[in-house]
Amino acid sequence: MERTFVAIKPDGVKRGLIGKIIQRFEDKSYKIIGLKMINVSPELAAKHYEEHFGKPFYNKLIKFLTMGPVVAMAVEGKNAIKGVRHLVGKTNPDEADDGSIRADYSSYSTTNLIHASDCPESAQRELNLYFNESEFCANYKNMFEIVLDELGEE
Ligand code: PPS
Repeated sequence: MERTFVAIKPDGVKRGLIGKIIQRFEDKSYKIIGLKMINVSPELAAKHYEEHFGKPFYNKLIKFLTMGPVVAMAVEGKNAIKGVRHLVGKTNPDEADDGSIRADYSSYSTTNLIHASDCPESAQRELNLYFNESEFCANYKNMFEIVLDELGEE
């Protein structure tokens, strides 16, 4: 099982898409094991996007993430890092696969609704930025896990 970090950005919250976005992950078998709505401080935004410091869009990125509430999530599942990125779709919604969240709900790279960690190192770093280990609730089985257990599969 892998854990990854997902954030519904302020545009997703303001547009009332929290439920629809979370549903995509649950439908695909992923388990939400951490969930909170927060106002991201400029300091936290800077840590989150530190790898993009100096890029032409950096200031806009920080401004955008701090413009309103964000829904931070820890998502667990088989190959969750790659799978969640696939569900989210490419940065530019015009290039995102049909059926991905960004393709379905946005047309702009700036207001592209959602962030998801791109590799195991980023997932660990970003989960640590937004959550304490004690905040994770991984001690329940979702329906996919219950059926796999019955079949004796991992
Ligand atoms: S890069 O340079 O390839 O690493 O950048 P990329 O992975 O495409 O994007 C990194 C994050 O920056 C956001 N982004 C932008 N924001 C504002 N304006 C512009 N032009 C822009 N281009 C990219 C993009 O949404 C990524 O945010 P996250 O939250 O990581 O998805």
